Amino acid sequence: MKNIFVTGTDTGVGKTAVSCGLAAYLSLRKGYDVGVMKPFESGNGASVEEMPGDAWALKQASGSTDDIRDVNPYNFKAPLAPETAAMLENAHIDIARVTAAYTKLADRHDIVIVEGAGGVLVPIRDGYFYSDLIVAWQIPVILVSRLTLGTINHTLLSCHYLRSIGVSVSGVILNDMLGENDIASQTNPGMLEKYLTVPLLGIFSHAPGLFARGIDRERLADLFEKSIKCDIFQ
Ligand SMILES: Nc1ncnc2c1ncn2[C@@H]1O[C@H](COP(=O)(O)OP(=O)(O)OP(=O)(O)O)[C@@H](O)[C@H]1O
Ligand SMILES: [Mg+2]
Repeated sequence: MKNIFVTGTDTGVGKTAVSCGLAAYLSLRKGYDVGVMKPFESGNGASVEEMPGDAWALKQASGSTDDIRDVNPYNFKAPLAPETAAMLENAHIDIARVTAAYTKLADRHDIVIVEGAGGVLVPIRDGYFYSDLIVAWQIPVILVSRLTLGTINHTLLSCHYLRSIGVSVSGVILNDMLGENDIASQTNPGMLEKYLTVPLLGIFSHAPGLFARGIDRERLADLFEKSIKCDIFQ
């Protein structure tokens, strides 16, 4: 396999956690040279060099030594969609610049893992959404969604839309970020397996304090290997 775009049903569902798990697994357990990218990051309130955010976490988890400006071409202060955050800073987003960084990373690595922001219909710039970037790059997608109540609708909608625009969806990962084991968490996987037309790759386990003391690559790789069907990542 070559390159994967990790999107989600929403913000805060665990895209970074799962992407870091995948990056650590592919690098430590499979021996791949893994590149990572967070094309647009917002909400750190500081420059990406100073404040650890998603791009920093992805870099640590993968072992990538790439220039942070290629890993994260655009970094905005406000925790908003790229289009809105850029507008507040009077910044212009150049899609060609982001694509050039992606192409450079793709040429350099065995696999590049790209993390989106929010979900697929988050606007990047006037009339241009994450889904347009995914289509332009012809990159397969993994969808991360919550395990808990509300996930069936969001997951099916996102998958249905991606497939309707011709995107290849490699599968869905449910993230057990709360570890609640309530009735919705118990029954959602079965309902999703019934209605999804793409594979359910597994439930990413609850891991308290996952990023509390920096990035533990071994723990991330173990978590991913133990909870996710890894045969698609050969
Ligand atoms: N499986 C898990 N176990 C425990 N905590 C988790 C798990 N997954 C995610 N978290 C925690 O939940 C929070 C949100 O996760 P994460 O940052 O991965 O979401 P995201 O989808 O990448 O968000 P964003 O849209 O801001 O990029 C983080 O603090 C993370 O450490
Ligand atoms: Mg994230």
